[in-house]
This record gives sequence, C-alpha cells and structure tokens, in this order.
Amino acid sequence: MPWIRKIHKWASLIVGIQFLLWLLSGIFFNLMDHTEAAGHTFRSHAHQHVEVNNNEFVELKDLAANFKASISIAPTYLLGQAYYLLTHEKGLYKGFKNHYTLVDAYTGEQVVIDSVFAAKLAKQSYNGPSEISSVELMQVPIEDFPKQKNASWRINFVNDIDTSVYIEAESGRLVGHSDDHKRFADFFFMLHFMDYGNEGSFNNIQMILFAFITLWLSLTGLIWTIDLGLRGQYKIKFFAKQQGVKLFDKNQKSMGTIKLSSHTNLLDGLIEHDIALPSTCGGGGTCGRCKVMINPIVKTTSADYLHFTDDELQQGYRLACQHFSNDIENMTLIDVTDAKKHTLVLSESSFVSPYMKELRFKVIGESSLSYKAGAFMRFFIPAAKGVSIPLNLPENLKPHWHHIEHLEYEHLGCTRSYSLAESSMNTNELVFTIKIQTAPHQKVIPGVGSSYLCNLPIGETISAIGPFEEFFASKNSNKTMVMLGAGSGMAPLKSLIEEQMTLSKQTTNGVDTNAAHIHFFYGARAESDLLYAEQFYQLAVNNEHFHYYPTLSQGNDDWLGATGYAQQILALNLDNLGDIDNIEFYLCGPKSMMTETMKLLTAKGVKENAIAFDDFS
Ligand code: FES
Repeated sequence: MPWIRKIHKWASLIVGIQFLLWLLSGIFFNLMDHTEAAGHTFRSHAHQHVEVNNNEFVELKDLAANFKASISIAPTYLLGQAYYLLTHEKGLYKGFKNHYTLVDAYTGEQVVIDSVFAAKLAKQSYNGPSEISSVELMQVPIEDFPKQKNASWRINFVNDIDTSVYIEAESGRLVGHSDDHKRFADFFFMLHFMDYGNEGSFNNIQMILFAFITLWLSLTGLIWTIDLGLRGQYKIKFFAKQQGVKLFDKNQKSMGTIKLSSHTNLLDGLIEHDIALPSTCGGGGTCGRCKVMINPIVKTTSADYLHFTDDELQQGYRLACQHFSNDIENMTLIDVTDAKKHTLVLSESSFVSPYMKELRFKVIGESSLSYKAGAFMRFFIPAAKGVSIPLNLPENLKPHWHHIEHLEYEHLGCTRSYSLAESSMNTNELVFTIKIQTAPHQKVIPGVGSSYLCNLPIGETISAIGPFEEFFASKNSNKTMVMLGAGSGMAPLKSLIEEQMTLSKQTTNGVDTNAAHIHFFYGARAESDLLYAEQFYQLAVNNEHFHYYPTLSQGNDDWLGATGYAQQILALNLDNLGDIDNIEFYLCGPKSMMTETMKLLTAKGVKENAIAFDDFS
C-alpha cells in the first residue's frame, strides 16, 4: 500500500498546483477588461465604403486559366480597391494553413502584399498614435497568435502598450491586434488551459497527461480509502450504537448507568465518562490490569485466556480493552484508579542524548497534580503523518542518525504510556524522558508514539490520562534499594531516586548516616547515551548512601567505567550489597534485561515481593 500512497501524494500535488492556477486565472478572467484582453484597445471598426464597377472586373474564367488550380475565387476589398482572392489550399479555420493568391480585380495581375501595403492595411484597423516603429514579416509560429499558421506582417506602433497589428501576407486579412494587455491576459490563458507549449489550444499533451494523473489520483484515493475502511480507520459515529450499561463496583454497589459507543472498547469508553481502569499496556491486552466482569456468554479473546483462569472466565471476567459494549448490559468494575483525562500543552522539548528527548508539559486548567514517583501517563496519540528522522535535529546529533533512512509514513490513532521522569508533588508541570524508537529497517515504521511526541511543536496540546501509580517505592522502608535500568527505563528510576533522596533529607550540607543505601545500575550503548550522567555522578559524590554504576555495552577506548550490560554489573556486585533479604529491587528496561535480571534474582533467592518492575516492553 505505500506505493499507492506515494502515487496519490504526488498526483495530488500536481493536481493541487494546477487547481490553484485555475482558481487564480479564473478570478483574473472575471476581473479583466475583455476589450483590453482581446488586444482591442486601439482597434478601429470603422467601415470603409468601396465603390466598384463589377462590369470592369476581369473574367473569372481568365483568372482560372492564368493561375493554378483554386478551390474558390472570391472578391475582396482592401484599402478601397477590389481584388479577387484565389484560394488554393484551405484549412478548417481562417488561421489554419491556407494558400492564397491575391489578384487585382480589374487587371487580373497578381498583387503581392509588401511591407508598405501591409502598413497601410494595419493603419486602417488602428486608431491609436500613428507612428510605426517597425514592419517585419513573421514566419510561424507567431508568439502573439499561436493559432495563426500562415506567414504574416507584423506592424509595430509606437504607444505605451506596444501595439502590434498582424496582416496575413498572402491574403491581406487582418489577423488581429496584440498589445501588453493581451499578452498579460494570454499568460493567464496559458495557465488556465495548461497551454504551456503556447499552441493556442487546450487540446494539448499537458491536458491529456493531466487527465491521466487526475484519474490516478481518484483511483489511488479510492483504494486508499477502502484500505483505511477495512483497517477500521473510519468509525462513522452516525452508525455507532449507544448502548446503556449498568455499572457496579466490586462490592456490587450500583454506580449508575452510562452510555457506551459500540465503536469504542470498554476501557476507552469508560475514560469518556472519567472512569479509568488500571492499565500499563495502554489497551494492548498484555498487562491484564483492566479487569471487569460482564456477561459470561460474551466471547473470550486469546488475551482473556492468558490472564484469567477457566473459573474466572466462567464467572464473566474479561479484559475491558478487548471488548465492546455490544451484548453488554451490566459491568462490574474490579478496580478503578483516580486517573483523569487531562489536556497537556508542550512547553519544552530538548535532546538529552542522540535518541532521547526530555519533554515538559503543562497541565491545562489544573492548578496542580499529585502522583507517586514512578507513575506514568497514557497519551492519546492522534492519527498523523510521521518521519523516521526527527525534525529540527541539532547539527551535532546528525551523525548519530546517518544510518537511518528517511521515511515518511502515516499512522492511525493509538495510545502510548510514558513514565514521569521527575518526582514532584503538587505540580502542573509533567516531565518525560522519551526514547525515539527507530525502525530496524525501512519496511517497518518507527515508534509512532515516541516520534509523534518528540516532533510535537512547542505550544501544541495533547490528551493524556493519568497519572497511574503502578510502579512506586515504599516511602518508609529502611531497606537497601537497587535500581536497575537501561535506555528509556531511566525515567521512572530517576523519579524514584529523586523521591528517595528527598525523603532521606540528605543534602550536600549534612549527611544522614541512617539513610538506606541506593545502588543505581544504569546501562547504555555509548557514553553519549548515558542520560543525566553528570547529575548522578554529582549525587554520588555528595551523598555517601547513593552509588552510581554506569555501564556501556559499546564503550570506546576512552571509557574508563564498566563495560557490559547493567544486569551483568549487578551480578558482579550483588554479593557486596549486603543481606539479600534486606534489599528491594526496582527494575525498568528492555525485555532481555528484565528476563536476565529476574533469573539472577530468583537464583539468589530474592523473594517476588522484593522486586518491583515497570515492564514497558
Ligand atoms: S489495558 Fe492492559 S490488558 Fe487491558
């Protein structure tokens, strides 16, 4: 389908430009002075009276004998004199290829229209200033009269609009007047009729090509529309049913009746009524958090099977993100969060590493929001166009993106969750550290959520629901904390560390020796990807109980720190961190890091409830 979109895009550009030219030239035609546009500013229509004595004309049969075969012989009058015009070859229209002989009607002698004769004829049809600047014989094509296919005299008059009068050389016929007004109007005719070859006709190759391109535009548009329709892009609200659903809390207490659209899944439908179920996967069917109870006869999905036992399925447990309001009359909400839908406006957007940006949003209409460190927001990413390489990429970061091929794409609307990167109570500013997910190759589009948000212009708004507090640290635990992360797993861990450091009240001026130790293991590919490194080094220098273990998987020779993955460095240090039963683990990073770490901790006998993780993968 991408080639259909490409053809459609280019065809629409060509048709769009020509459409604008039509509009522009059409407006001009409405406003122009039609006499001036025809070149008739100095055109005289005075009729000249001619006295003739037909009896003295030469015999037609003599003419026919003296001159080569003619199609017709007709009397004509030029400058008060009578002539015969013998036509030997005749085009469909006057200007088309014709061949004439002009003959004096009295003597039967052939008359040639020379420059003097032509100038007199021109003056007869002209009523402006009479001075002639030049007379020249023009061969075709004649720029001012592209339809004229016969050689013509051009008589140029001296006036402020550069009038030229054209007299056909063989017949003495007035071809027409041209001047600056007509030439200006001709330019708009050229645009309007796509006569870019100045052929004087709209029956040209450009018009045929244009018709072909328009046909392609229509066809590709139709195919694209059908494709989008098949992929569920168009949900025509007019046809959507509104289903009344009775809500109950987990104690079966009635919460009233709400109307849900048959085109919106239950999770999103509830959000429209300001009811937010827990969700870390944003409706992907993987987190299993959006549990509801509905009519057990409603068909189960594979995601339901993954998250519920047979017993639960028979009781009617289902994932709200996997079902619609059709066939549902009652719904029991197992768990509801305090999360609300907010409108955020982007106030700052800056790169903190070659592939990551720090985004700051202000919450519109809210004086402040409270959330636990480690919380996340779910963004409603609208259907939009995207690019594989960020817009406004700083010059110094461009080398990091050289291996990425330029790709423009369109994506459907979706939701994406991102952790808050700062711990801050009662704030109306939300900070996120987002990694721009690149595509492994051209056939796959990059991460639509990260690209959309990281390319969002300052001042733009977006809807998001939250904060969801699924991943957090206990505020009064004295246990050692191990934070382990990589890549964009930084955001919630940074937030947790900031919160713990604030809670421990340790500052550069005073050391709280009772503060629990925090060990932060963070892995990145290269040194330029080590986020907020300076901030954490400084924190470790100023706080005895904070320990920072940056590690690089692809460090260069200058790198003096640990090399490898964060979980490998944790494995090397784990036995030195104290009693394993006195450690809490907080993990956030890619799937491989999480899996290996879980294996390591399980092997060391770490209990499940001592491990918290934010599984964004
Ligand atoms: S929202 Fe995650 S499974 Fe439904």
